[in-house]
Amino acid sequence: MSLAPSQSAAMKPSKGKLPISVVTVIVCSFAFIALLYTDTSRSLFKLKSCPRRSPVEKSKDRAAEDNLKNFQMDDRFEFDPEECTVNTGKWMFNKTFKPLYTDRSCPYLDKQVSCVKNGRRDTDYRRWEWQPDDCTLPRFNPELALKKLRGKRLLFVGDSLQRGQWQSFVCLVEWIIPEDKKSMKQGHSHSVFRAKEYDATIEFYWAPFLIESNTDDHIIVDTKKRILKVDSIDKHAKHWGGVDFLVFNTYVWWMSGLRLKTLWGSFANGEEGYEELDTPVAYKIGLKTWANWIDSNINPNKTRVFFTTMSPTHTRSEDWNNTEGLKCFNETKPVLKKKYWGSGSDKRMMSVVASIGKKMKVPVTFINITQLSEYRIDAHASVYTETGGKLLTEEQRADPLHHADCIHWCLPGVPDTWNRIFLAYL
Ligand SMILES: *[C@@H]1O[C@H](CO)[C@@H](O)[C@H](O)[C@H]1NC(C)=O
Ligand SMILES: *[C@@H]1O[C@H](CO)[C@@H](O)[C@H](O)[C@H]1NC(C)=O
Ligand SMILES: *[C@@H]1O[C@H](CO)[C@@H](O)[C@H](O)[C@H]1NC(C)=O
Ligand SMILES: *[C@@H]1O[C@H](CO)[C@@H](O)[C@H](O)[C@H]1NC(C)=O
Ligand SMILES: *[C@@H]1O[C@H](CO)[C@@H](O)[C@H](O)[C@H]1NC(C)=O
Repeated sequence: MSLAPSQSAAMKPSKGKLPISVVTVIVCSFAFIALLYTDTSRSLFKLKSCPRRSPVEKSKDRAAEDNLKNFQMDDRFEFDPEECTVNTGKWMFNKTFKPLYTDRSCPYLDKQVSCVKNGRRDTDYRRWEWQPDDCTLPRFNPELALKKLRGKRLLFVGDSLQRGQWQSFVCLVEWIIPEDKKSMKQGHSHSVFRAKEYDATIEFYWAPFLIESNTDDHIIVDTKKRILKVDSIDKHAKHWGGVDFLVFNTYVWWMSGLRLKTLWGSFANGEEGYEELDTPVAYKIGLKTWANWIDSNINPNKTRVFFTTMSPTHTRSEDWNNTEGLKCFNETKPVLKKKYWGSGSDKRMMSVVASIGKKMKVPVTFINITQLSEYRIDAHASVYTETGGKLLTEEQRADPLHHADCIHWCLPGVPDTWNRIFLAYL
């Protein structure tokens, strides 16, 4: 399963207003002074009778004012999914930032994404933090994550990019759990990490198109032989019941050509009866099948549904004006140009996702990671990866044009930021 992954995500619409949580302005003229107390998160106003103001008290007042200002600042920037558009912002280099895990400390990472273990020497790509324009994204807090999952099941469904997000999530939390209080069961299409004391599971289910295809279980390398059953989903979806948090993705597997072979309606003609459809048309039918399944099988009071938007690929260095470049090979810095968008994220596919999401009965939260990941040409596995279970050879490494993987992301890395956003929404 080394082929395609991809996702992107969008966030909830922002109302473009700041939360007004400091509701009251207190004027203390003669009779009262206001003392402002702030506990860690919310403000409490306490009124006390106001004596004559000595210079000391005046300076206390000033301090309180400053406090109030700071507090308002902090409060304004506190993360609120309704108010913050997390997908507009910039990457900030933080030299002292350290990921919560490494590809040596976390035992659950695939070779495919263990870049440093595989020989990547530069590590700056791990030290960029996403800074949204109008809020601060909280750091990933593993304890908080496990508390939110107590007694619950979290299931990631999708392709190898989604598997990356799942492994990132597992690695972000697993290190705070003692050895005998956790377990991992890796299966062919379904893998389960269990945090025993929390009675919680963090799972992954392989379904690269979400709908059924002839290349789900045994991957057909020749993309022309792949056939998508765009209106069939039950074979996969029967494994998604009774889950508390569902996180989907699907994109990159659809991008194998301009047209896709699809089967729909009656299968009476067998696989010979396929029809070729333009990729966005096939994608739309496939996603509608998924949306209908969600709307008729998911009780939104019991299950929350998330969708990670397309993960951009970076295989054309001309996109970012590196005419000497070989795909994403040797890139060590993100693109810093605002709103940079390359050819690896298809806007037509994004608009299909957005329009289907809007029409669903069950609310879907988009983890809109496309724009922020677009900048990260430096963070792919590149030549520090494997093929067919074996590390690339020196020869293969010397030929990035044919062997660099500019689809998958090194871990720790960019998918940790996707999970930072996901946890903030959770
Ligand atoms: C994700 O964000 C982009 C802008 O960065 C937007 O164009 C797109 O519609 C969003 N996707 C969804 C599904 O909301
Ligand atoms: C950089 O990371 C360090 C360590 O986590 C943190 O203390 C510091 O506040 C961060 N700096 C910025 C500017 O976010
Ligand atoms: C969900 O809860 C609301 C409010 O309690 C209720 O009105 C609604 O019928 C419930 N929906 C389902 C599908 O159970
Ligand atoms: C690439 O060059 C073009 C033309 O000079 C410019 O408009 C564009 O912003 C550049 N792109 C990046 C990512 O720097
Ligand atoms: C890749 O980067 C290294 C170190 O900066 C440099 O020595 C090497 O020539 C670069 N390789 C290519 C093919 O650009």
